[in-house]
Amino acid sequence: MKAVVFHGVGDIRLEDVSEPKIEQATDAVVRITTSAICGTDLHFIRGTVPGMKPGTVLGHEGVGVVEEVGEGIRNFRPGDRVLLSAVLGCGSCSYCRAGYFAQCDTVNPNGPRSGTAFYGAPVANGAINGLQAEYARVPCAHTNMFRLPESVSDAQAIPLSDIYPTGYFGAVIAEVSDGDVVGVFGCGPVGQFAILSAFQRGAARVIAVDGHGDRLERAQMLGAEVINFNEVDPVAAMLELTRGIGPDRVIDAVGVDAESPKSGPAAGRAREQADQHREELRQIAPRTNEHNGQWKPGDAPTQAHAWAVDSLAKAGTLGIIGVYPPTDRFFPIGTAMNRNLTINMGNGNHPRYIRRLMAMVESGTVDPDRILTQHEPMREVMRAYKEFDQRRPGWLKVALDPSH
Ligand SMILES: NC(=O)c1ccc[n+]([C@@H]2O[C@H](COP(=O)([O-])OP(=O)(O)OC[C@H]3O[C@@H](n4cnc5c(N)ncnc54)[C@H](O)[C@@H]3O)[C@@H](O)[C@H]2O)c1
Ligand SMILES: [Zn+2]
Ligand SMILES: [Zn+2]
Repeated sequence: MKAVVFHGVGDIRLEDVSEPKIEQATDAVVRITTSAICGTDLHFIRGTVPGMKPGTVLGHEGVGVVEEVGEGIRNFRPGDRVLLSAVLGCGSCSYCRAGYFAQCDTVNPNGPRSGTAFYGAPVANGAINGLQAEYARVPCAHTNMFRLPESVSDAQAIPLSDIYPTGYFGAVIAEVSDGDVVGVFGCGPVGQFAILSAFQRGAARVIAVDGHGDRLERAQMLGAEVINFNEVDPVAAMLELTRGIGPDRVIDAVGVDAESPKSGPAAGRAREQADQHREELRQIAPRTNEHNGQWKPGDAPTQAHAWAVDSLAKAGTLGIIGVYPPTDRFFPIGTAMNRNLTINMGNGNHPRYIRRLMAMVESGTVDPDRILTQHEPMREVMRAYKEFDQRRPGWLKVALDPSH
């Protein structure tokens, strides 16, 4: 079958690999009808999240049809149309039962303290083959597959795999509640769903920050007040918009590949910090491999959370959903401590939220399809990866059709 395979930093290929099989009684094999490219995949290819094993099939977002189930699966049968959760849990351990699927004790083959298991991920996260493929093996399928109503199309469903539950989780861990003013750093696909979810959880205002006009336009369409960090200083602008108080809650939906401002009033300070950011990047990601401007790491790995901490109201809450690798040891703890900030972070507990988010999609309360800007056949996947990597105008979220 055709699949996107990781070969090394800066080196991914569309190639033929063998089809997955049932390995354990609780597995299922699914024929993927729609997959997608995620900002997380870019960290691996850029080398800012290290530890991928060459040969791993990439991708963790998928919709498909069940081909086969192991003998331990009693809630699905071949032919069922399903959504796959990017984050995997076993559904039986004490963490899963508490809703902490991202810290499941058993699904990660590296053992109970090894953390989040997801598809197409580094060795530490299980190195389970991913969903940018014609077929995939789903571990603990009873917990990690969700039956799709006929009325929900693949395009409406695919954001439920990862970006919607992640954005929603961001609003939950940032403790967004009625009346809050919420700042969202990053208006990529995850940031868009963080904005939407903040409003769903009662935010009165959402102030969204990015450096790309087309992404800010989409954020504005969701109701956010938008700030372009290449035009104004985002922290000063947030304070100005909130009578000097700052947002009550902030969500970092950027992660390690954060960019510094290249123009506008914040660019001067960024230039002063360029050496510091270069050194941080060298320590966090010693092995990167840029090709002609492609797979280039962000140049300011601490910028998004530093702005988040600087802008927050006293005693406010920061929710970090942007991904930082275990090699990252930089955080402005002093400012956060002295302002009595609460900081929550992590990988989303997707199986905990998927059903309720799917109900909102099914009822038409939200239409996640609006955030998908590109639908590409698998044979175009390399071009699609490159456009998304460059954040080309209009390329907000790419869905892939593995059958073409
Ligand atoms: N925690 C989880 O479970 C989880 C799940 C999925 C994705 N993620 C992470 O969420 C992050 C966003 O994912 P995505 O798919 O939207 O990626 P993306 O790369 O498309 O989006 C990142 C956005 O941040 C913007 N940005 C860059 N520097 C910035 C800065 N200094 N301030 C504000 N905005 C800045 C970029 O212009 C871009 O629009 C990634 O780190 C991804 O790995 C986390
Ligand atoms: Zn994803
Ligand atoms: Zn578990």
